[in-house]
Amino acid sequence: MSKRAFVLTSSDSGFAGEREDVSGPTAMELLRQAGWEIVGYALLPDDRWQLTQKLCQVCDSGEADLLLTTGGTGFSARDCMPEATADAAERMVPGIPEAMRWYSLQITPRAMLSRAAAGIRKNTLIVNLPGSPKAVRENLGAILETLDHAIHMMHGQGH
Ligand code: MTE
Repeated sequence: MSKRAFVLTSSDSGFAGEREDVSGPTAMELLRQAGWEIVGYALLPDDRWQLTQKLCQVCDSGEADLLLTTGGTGFSARDCMPEATADAAERMVPGIPEAMRWYSLQITPRAMLSRAAAGIRKNTLIVNLPGSPKAVRENLGAILETLDHAIHMMHGQGH
């Protein structure tokens, strides 16, 4: 089965070079350990238009089965990854963020503060993760196994 993943980080401070992005590399490491091939990584500012453009470009190119994002899911005025995801997606997938929040709420009540979304554009599944490496590990851990079946289904291969 095709397991190609692109990782996109949303961070003003990371993009400005004021802070090293740890969340994106953490996501890539976990994906590699689970047998995913990383086909690309990008770091962009928390800008809805730029994020939407990048999401659409990656999905439309067909280069990735999974587009995992980190950061930009909180309450800060600039946090807009869920909005960019909804702009880019043709169909929303609420169950994945529901599962991540359900799992994460057993670790911290702050899990309810993640506005993470997920959706499908063409043949790519977009999934938002929060921005801290700890949250990346916990949220991705909750869904990693099921992602294989999700991609399989998305490509029309049925159960
Ligand atoms: N989920 C898990 N599993 N573990 C965490 O530590 N942090 C929360 C939440 N989800 C957290 C989590 C916090 S404090 C916030 S503000 C939101 O994710 C959004 O994070 P973001 O703004 O970095 O995207």
